Amino acid sequence: MDRALLEIVDLHVSVAGKEIIKGMDLQVKQGEVHVIFGPNGSGKSTLLNAVMHLPGYTVDRGEIRVKSQNIAEMTTDEIANLGIGMSFQHPPKIKGVTLRNFLGAINRSEDLDEVIGELSMDTFMERELNVGFSGGELKRAEVLKLYAQSPDLLLIDEPESGVDIENIAIISQAINKILQKETPMKLRERSAIIITHTGHILNYIHTDIGHVFMDGTIVCTGNPQAIMDDIKKGGFSGCTSCIRQQKDQR
Ligand SMILES: Nc1ncnc2c1ncn2[C@@H]1O[C@H](COP(=O)(O)OP(=O)(O)OP(=O)(O)O)[C@@H](O)[C@H]1O
Ligand SMILES: [Mg+2]
Repeated sequence: MDRALLEIVDLHVSVAGKEIIKGMDLQVKQGEVHVIFGPNGSGKSTLLNAVMHLPGYTVDRGEIRVKSQNIAEMTTDEIANLGIGMSFQHPPKIKGVTLRNFLGAINRSEDLDEVIGELSMDTFMERELNVGFSGGELKRAEVLKLYAQSPDLLLIDEPESGVDIENIAIISQAINKILQKETPMKLRERSAIIITHTGHILNYIHTDIGHVFMDGTIVCTGNPQAIMDDIKKGGFSGCTSCIRQQKDQR
């Protein structure tokens, strides 16, 4: 099936009066996993925040469609209810709400207890959401939240930052489970956009399409591992010449 879950057309986004996203297009089809690389401060998180209509992110121009619906007039909860879930780079702390209560309010999955065990979050269930969680614990809680939500489109911002290698494997396993990676590609219904700096996650999650985001737009699209290898060799500054090569090869 070739259904687009997310379509972004000529998107311009500003934050605090400054243009951060300066015209970009992206299409994520059902079953696809996209990975976005890019330097610090280039606007990767801004992109995800803008898709979710988080406060402070203004769409100045362009269109975002989720499952063919223009979301321009929708609120964040309406967008989430279309089937989008986001794992934050810096998850908010919510005092007075335990992880158990939070998961109870959003859970749509059938085997949450199993995944709570797999992510070693059993002993966190009575703690206030994200309050005092270590870097790795925060990321495990975010992925657990995604698992509970079981959205059709996962927006995952830096899942492995501050996470040790062992825990990256555990987090990835849970993400793969949400993405039905054991199912043949054609039957997979869920898609994802994953933002990564280190690329470690590529060792655990099969991604289909990679993008380099720089200066407010996507400057390169291609094989995720090849892009990662190029960045390791030539840094992000090498990406502009790389795009020409990749376009020529198409
Ligand atoms: N709420 C805000 N107020 C002011 N500036 C903001 C706000 N949110 C983002 N910005 C600015 O927008 C730019 C892009 O930020 P963004 O967080 O999207 O970058 P990023 O690509 O995700 O970076 P990183 O790799 O460090 O996570 C930065 O210069 C940042 O300071
Ligand atoms: Mg970011």
